[in-house]
Amino acid sequence: MGGSAGNVLSVHGGTPLHGTIRVRGAKNLVSKAMVAALLGETPSRLYDVPAIRDVEVVRGLLELHGVRVSDGASEGELVLDPANVEAANVDEINVHAGSSRIPILFCGPLLHRLGHAFIPDLGGCHIGPRPIDFHMQALREFGAVVDKTPDGLHLTAPNGLHGTKLELPYPSVGATEQVLLTAVRAEGVTELRNAAVEPEIIDLICVLQKMGAIINVHTSRVIEIEGVPALTGYAHRPIPDRIEAASWAAAALATGGDVRVLGARQADMTTFLNTFRSVGGAFEITDACPPRPAAAGRPPEPGVEGGIRFWHPGGELRAVALETAVHPGFMTDWQQPLVVALTQARGLSIVHETVYEQRLGYTKALLSMGATIQTYRDCLGGTPCRFGRRNFTHSAVIAGPTKLHAADLVIPDLRAGFSHLIAALAAEGTSRVYGVDLINRGYEDFEGKLAALGAHTERP
Ligand code: EPZ
Repeated sequence: MGGSAGNVLSVHGGTPLHGTIRVRGAKNLVSKAMVAALLGETPSRLYDVPAIRDVEVVRGLLELHGVRVSDGASEGELVLDPANVEAANVDEINVHAGSSRIPILFCGPLLHRLGHAFIPDLGGCHIGPRPIDFHMQALREFGAVVDKTPDGLHLTAPNGLHGTKLELPYPSVGATEQVLLTAVRAEGVTELRNAAVEPEIIDLICVLQKMGAIINVHTSRVIEIEGVPALTGYAHRPIPDRIEAASWAAAALATGGDVRVLGARQADMTTFLNTFRSVGGAFEITDACPPRPAAAGRPPEPGVEGGIRFWHPGGELRAVALETAVHPGFMTDWQQPLVVALTQARGLSIVHETVYEQRLGYTKALLSMGATIQTYRDCLGGTPCRFGRRNFTHSAVIAGPTKLHAADLVIPDLRAGFSHLIAALAAEGTSRVYGVDLINRGYEDFEGKLAALGAHTERP
């Protein structure tokens, strides 16, 4: 949580959000694609990169390792040149400790490039213990030797990295990425079972394929990677940020507004859209269409920017039962923003969080604003999950509709932070949201976007 004095936003709630904003490349792909650039022997180009804190952190880490990162010719374009990759100073890397979980993904690429890697203590959002045991187990099976010290992890690969057969205990996004980034240049074939297949993973596979990797995605969460001796740079336009798009959609619904999210893409959001519609929200999809030059007897056509318009159609919202899950299920990162809208739905909504064991703590803030939410240790309304047996508070019942009133809120993590912001926008009166800078980790220019949507906020 940011603790600086100016790190607070006053939000005068009660005004529906109206207008148009744009989302750019997905944070959870962009940061991984930047790491993948380490594996190439020529420069990579990544387009549509959002100006967010997590990108800055990865950029800083890459630069410490000798990667030259510069802004390209177009807005949001990054050029990453790994020609001079080198070991970074441990103290300098430690400056980044605690600011992101991305450093863990440097393991495989650094082992390939340098033969050793140092990974500082990991940060990221406070949404449970977030262990890295799957990552370490996988790296060991490739042949890495992991030495844990108080400052972080030191890894070596005395006999090189070799393809292997792996099965993840759970389809972890990060561990799947770890395996991909390591296997592409390991000697031989790697077979990964129970892999995550989120759209951001498929997009990372597209990046790696552009670099020369050979990766097959089979049915039933099996990914097969044929190691190659060398990779080149890539040029890639990332998938849009489906978490940010859903966050603005939830803000439109909770405030009774109407928000067009340019760049949002239906294919990445079908599960969210189904739930949004079940709650009573309305949406309209515009498919992107490239410009067409004039042809015989036909004038040129300018092209259409794709996007999704989300709005509250009036009347009452309806309670729903939802369960977060790995793709193609309802994303855990969509949960917190949507729950704010569920406080305005008639009846009892049930939420079963099955990805993280501690992702309902933020509901306390909603309670302080007048919401009626009860949390449970049981697996409510869905299939029993691994957290029910382990006694974690991971289900919630939300009774609505309840009027929200202003409160002083402290942001605990990125997505919960955005949900606090939505709650403050939906509430009557002026809320003070502390630690608001944390939202910059994953939402580009959120204050500019709020202003564009007619929200009344100010830095006191
Ligand atoms: C990624 O985190 C995202 N982060 C998260 O988004 C997202 O919520 C998550 O995937 C699920 O979609 C990034 O891409 C940077 P996991 P990741 O490994 O890779 C357990 C956001 O706000 N697990 O799929 O860290 C873990 O504890 C962030 O943008 C182990 O037990 O998630 C969790 O319960 C928040 N051991 C589950 O797996 C391990 O070694 C899923 O985690 C690794 C994970």
